[in-house]
Amino acid sequence: MTNYHEPVLLQACIDGLNLQPGGTYVDVTFGGGGHSRAILQQLEGGRLFGFDQDADARANAQALNDSRLTFVAANFRNIKRYLRLYKSEQVDGILADLGISSHQIDTPERGFSTRFDADLDMRMNQHAERTAREVVNEYSEADLHRILGMYGEITNARTAANTLVSARSNRPLKTVNDLKAALQRLAPRGKENKYFAQVFQALRIEVNEELQVLEEFLEQVPEILKPGGRLVVMSYHSLEDRLVKNFINKGKFQGEVEKDLFGNEIKPLRSVTRKPIEATPDEIARNPRARSAKLRIAEKI
Ligand SMILES: C[S@@+](CC[C@H](N)C(=O)[O-])C[C@H]1O[C@@H](n2cnc3c(N)ncnc32)[C@H](O)[C@@H]1O
Repeated sequence: MTNYHEPVLLQACIDGLNLQPGGTYVDVTFGGGGHSRAILQQLEGGRLFGFDQDADARANAQALNDSRLTFVAANFRNIKRYLRLYKSEQVDGILADLGISSHQIDTPERGFSTRFDADLDMRMNQHAERTAREVVNEYSEADLHRILGMYGEITNARTAANTLVSARSNRPLKTVNDLKAALQRLAPRGKENKYFAQVFQALRIEVNEELQVLEEFLEQVPEILKPGGRLVVMSYHSLEDRLVKNFINKGKFQGEVEKDLFGNEIKPLRSVTRKPIEATPDEIARNPRARSAKLRIAEKI
């Protein structure tokens, strides 16, 4: 299972959840189950729900062979609905380790990696309708510009969008190599890998609607958590971290925190950590994926 995905900031996540042995917990990004396994080790009689929209994750849940674990093959944007279905409307802690797993990026045919040629796919959920191919070939130039600039932080996003639109007018861009060839001359010399990684990140965020999904999820969290329950979120992109930070600190994604007539802040969560927790240089050396991780912990008031 370690090959599937090496869990990031494992101990900090477990500490952040403040696990009660008999409690009910949700790992909304089950993946290889690294975090879930550590949660289960501390539960006695408690219960764990593991969500993942990738069908490949189910086998990892089965391998744990633990009757306290319920695997939910669904998008965590529907967390409230599923917990109601399982008659666990309120829980003691929720963990989210956002983004894609090493397994997903290392599986060539999933199309997440710049290293392998494959169809332009990038869906975390293999049954979802929209792939990266639709985004690249059907989105307007203005939308491509926005996506590449905002989600990929590409400095020449406008030119890149224009280049993609001209390239696809000759023939559709079907594969990873088609996409890379179309943008090759725009990639800064010697920094091609970084440039393509940013392009791929942007497309992946769009294909999987990662920011919309995160907002929908966070909005459900206060209702799902019991008072004193913990939210632990790990993000790998500044736009995600900003959403998490604002929601924890202000109870909303934009604007200032609301106050009642007496000047008390009206917000459902309280931040447990003043600053986000980051991986140590040792962990980053062992697991480069930990490099951009930012962990935030909050408690339901
Ligand atoms: C970074 S990995 C999690 C790794 C996991 N913590 C471990 O230790 O193995 C993220 C996982 O969450 C899943 N995922 C991401 N967004 C999701 C969503 N909106 N709904 C359900 N699963 C999601 C991905 O398919 C992937 O398997």
